Parts: sequence; structure tokens; C-alpha cells
Amino acid sequence: MSQSTGVDLFMKQFKYFKSNKPQPSLNSVISVDITTSEVKLLECNTNYKCEDNLTQCLGLINKNKWKTYSFVQHPGLMLIRNPFTGSGQRYWIKRCLERYPKKPNKINIDIEIDNLDDWWRECHKSMECDKKLLKKLRWTTLGYHHNWNTKAYSEENKTPFPEDLSELSSVVAQYLGFAKFRAEAAIVNYYHKNSTLSAHTDHSEVNLDAPLFSFSFGQSAIFLIGGREKSIEPSAILLKSGDIVVMSKEARLCYHAVPKILPEYHQPWNSDLSELDFNKMPSFMYISNPKETIEAMNENIENDKWSEFENYIKESRININVRQVLNEKQISLADEFFS
Ligand code: SIN
Repeated sequence: MSQSTGVDLFMKQFKYFKSNKPQPSLNSVISVDITTSEVKLLECNTNYKCEDNLTQCLGLINKNKWKTYSFVQHPGLMLIRNPFTGSGQRYWIKRCLERYPKKPNKINIDIEIDNLDDWWRECHKSMECDKKLLKKLRWTTLGYHHNWNTKAYSEENKTPFPEDLSELSSVVAQYLGFAKFRAEAAIVNYYHKNSTLSAHTDHSEVNLDAPLFSFSFGQSAIFLIGGREKSIEPSAILLKSGDIVVMSKEARLCYHAVPKILPEYHQPWNSDLSELDFNKMPSFMYISNPKETIEAMNENIENDKWSEFENYIKESRININVRQVLNEKQISLADEFFS
């Protein structure tokens, strides 16, 4: 990782990978599927006893089969290589399109269109899908809503965090040894062919020690991650559908960006579509209605019910970015003693 004082090496790399003419070479892009000295397979020996039924119910494969990687140049950065089943990927894609953009959650289109309570239904209310409205969705916020102007969270700008996403984040967090992680805010980002996300750090949370979990679905992406200064040259990492990036410790406050979306040819959301049996599911799940979750997961297997979502995801990418906002003992932002 090189550094050049005063020179924005991050921007240089961002522009390089963003370019369409000429197309960038992908030779330097790190893929965890290819053995290199920059990537290490981690032994995740947390003593976390997670019932296999619970992981299944969240659309995950047995955790003994998960592959977690660390990056030599980026201490604290980890990548779990697609631990989802195909039906699991379909479940989360559908939640990000059909459920999460609904009110009371917030979407970028709110400033343009009043009372857009159900974006997905509005896009599909006539036989022909409203493609213009479909492509307009760039983000949805959940829990403590990110304020894009002030960058500050507030108790007044908060709605309930989805239970299923909170449970998914907890399972991943506990697996990696972050037992006390609480999902309190999320940004769901929606990317199309030429979408990008410019260099930024995530520092609005009171708790900057808790890790950040980032779930990717759909088309692939080049993810750039550097250091705390833009003068540090970033690494380019290939993210594929189902991958979970974890930014913890030193990596938590590093600059990152998405300069390019790339086609995902393997479409993992279309394989491993196995049906779940509710009667074999755990009774201790936090999700208030596990039966509904399992039915929703099974429903996606039927291709006619899935086809509208397939049309979206075959061209787009979704990223769910989950954070803890408060410190461990803090119960609200007003609770200044712990801030
Ligand atoms: C983000 O950093 O907010 C999103 C990163 C991604 O889309 O992978």
C-alpha cells in the first residue's frame, strides 16, 4: 500500500476503475477465489453455537462451510464469501425491493415525489413496469435514518429496524466474535450499470468501535478500500452476489468507494433453491413471525412469483450496509453519559 503526501491516490484509482473508455484492466483486482499472498483464509473459531436451523431460516448455508478471508494490507477488513443459499439471496433481494423501501422507511425519491408509500408496487401497478421510477431508487434508510445533509443521527429521525435484518447481522457478528453487536441503522444502496459510490468514510455513529456489515446481492462490483487519508493508495476487491464485507478495527474508519459495477454471470440466486420445513425450525428465533419468514423464503422458489425481481437484479446491484449507532450501554442518543 503506497502513500504520496498531498496526492489523492484514492481518486486516481477511482477514476481509473470508473472509466468506460478505455475499460480498466482488472489484473490488479483482488478476488478471494484466486489464491494470492494478499488474502488469507481465516479460521473462525468463535465458540458461537448457532443452530443450523436458524442459519437456514435466514437463508444461510451451514456456518461450518462459510469461508472468511482477511486482507494482509487491511487489518480489520474481512470478507465472507457468499454464505447464502440461492433462496436466501432471493429472500434478501426481495426484501430490499418490496419491503424495505416502504414507509415509514425513507428513500431518496421522497424529496421528489410526495406520499410514495410503496415504491415497488407503484413501479408495477400497470402491466408494463415503470422503468424510469424503478431506476430512480438509489437508497433506502432503516432504523436511525442517515441524514445526508447534517450526517447526524437523531432520535426524532428513527423508525423500527427490520427484525430479520437485525437477526442476520447478529448471526454474522457473533460468528466473527462480535457478540454484542446491535443493528441500529442501515443504508440500502441500489446500483445500476453505470452507478458509482464516491470515496467516503462512515463516522456518524457514536460507536466507532462496532464493526460495519455490508451485504452485496446481484451484479458484481469493484470495491476500493484505502486508509484514513485519501493519499493512501486503495486496494481494489471484487465483490460478488452474497458476499459479506466486514469493516472492523483499523478498517472501520477507512476510505472506501464503488467505482464500477460488473456483470455477474453465475447468478447464484438462481441455484440452490431448496425448500425449508417450518416444523424443523427453532422456537427461539427473535423474529416475531418465523413461519411468515419461512413461507416468504419458500415462495421465492416459484419462478413466476420471482420473475419481476429477476428482471431487476439481472441488471442491478443491491448493497445493505448495517451499523451500530450507540455505545454498548447507551439506550438512546439523548443518553449522553455513555456517548
Ligand atoms: C457503502 O460503503 O456505503 C457501500 C459499499 C458497497 O456498495 O459495497
